[in-house]
Amino acid sequence: MATPSLLILPGDGIGPEVMAEVRKVIDWCGTRGLAFDVEEDLVGGAAYDAHGTPLADATMEKAQQVDAVLLGAVGGPKYDVLDFSVKPERGLLRLRKEMDLYANLRPAQCFDALADFSSLKKDVVAGLDIMIVRELTSGVYFGEPRGIHTEGNERVGINTQRYTESEIARVARSAFELARKRSNRVCSMEKANVMESGILWREVVQEVHDREYPDVELSHMYADAGAMQLTRWPKQFDVIVTDNLFGDLLSDLAAMLTGSLGMLPSASLGAPMANGRPRALYEPVHGSAPDIAGQGKANPIACILSFAMALRYSFDRGAEADLVEKAVEGVLADGLRTADLIGEEGRTPVSTQEMGDAIVAKLAAG
Ligand code: IPM
Ligand code: MG
Repeated sequence: MATPSLLILPGDGIGPEVMAEVRKVIDWCGTRGLAFDVEEDLVGGAAYDAHGTPLADATMEKAQQVDAVLLGAVGGPKYDVLDFSVKPERGLLRLRKEMDLYANLRPAQCFDALADFSSLKKDVVAGLDIMIVRELTSGVYFGEPRGIHTEGNERVGINTQRYTESEIARVARSAFELARKRSNRVCSMEKANVMESGILWREVVQEVHDREYPDVELSHMYADAGAMQLTRWPKQFDVIVTDNLFGDLLSDLAAMLTGSLGMLPSASLGAPMANGRPRALYEPVHGSAPDIAGQGKANPIACILSFAMALRYSFDRGAEADLVEKAVEGVLADGLRTADLIGEEGRTPVSTQEMGDAIVAKLAAG
């Protein structure tokens, strides 16, 4: 089989420094007979600085051709003044939309070594392992009409929540498929009590379930109640499926249960390509953290775990993905902490690079 290809888009802020650590893990894969063709390119503010656009057409084309895209983070205060249409975030949204990456998988897993670090009580989060499936290419972030216009003597801002049946059905299938490989439970979240799109969401998820996945346990919850339940007793959930906006909020909430945004990976998956692999982009849930960029303080784990998800979902290398996850658990158990994982206990943090090196050393030691 052809050498699998990766497009690396480090982006802005801490993106490049965390991606440098992922590169080390990619090199380790080479020692296990899994070499990649790696290309690197620009996205976000970095692309804007070079090309005047947050995603050049040539980069978009490459992204469509490779087996998987790995992205660091986009954005920063320097770009706040830019017109909305060329803001760094638009580069990321274009990738998601044009690659049609409709299913965004955001696992929230609490590592034992970090259970104390959560803002919730230890018994509420210890052993937590849930998966949020966020619809990523439709809903209010993309719906038309949108914009800001003037009515009479004031301005009006408009966004539109819009979902078709097929958009709901396909992301529901992703959630049910994942549930079958986990604890076989899906909770769907919307606001069917106030939104028509929520009523349709609930109906379609139920229909797909009854017709194709009757073996999976399905429940429905209003998204606000879901947020409350996520903080009350998150372990009641296995897979949560929800729309783009609610998924954006709920996945940040779920991520924080685990102690730090710096730990959480994500996969954004679309339909299968000609080679059978899904169109895929992997990125940490955290942002570009401009306040700490370039200081070696960033936690590379979320980005490294995102690559582990690539090994699992794009390259069918679950064994290597397990090893990477074990190595991360191992260094945390050894007491290594980047600055974001230091609480009251007054440990000395390790740098981004030291964390990456320690993970690779664990991998090399086998
Ligand atoms: C996320 C981010 C993005 C989003 C931004 C950076 C466009 O918050 O991936 O959750 O809103 O989807
Ligand atoms: Mg978000």
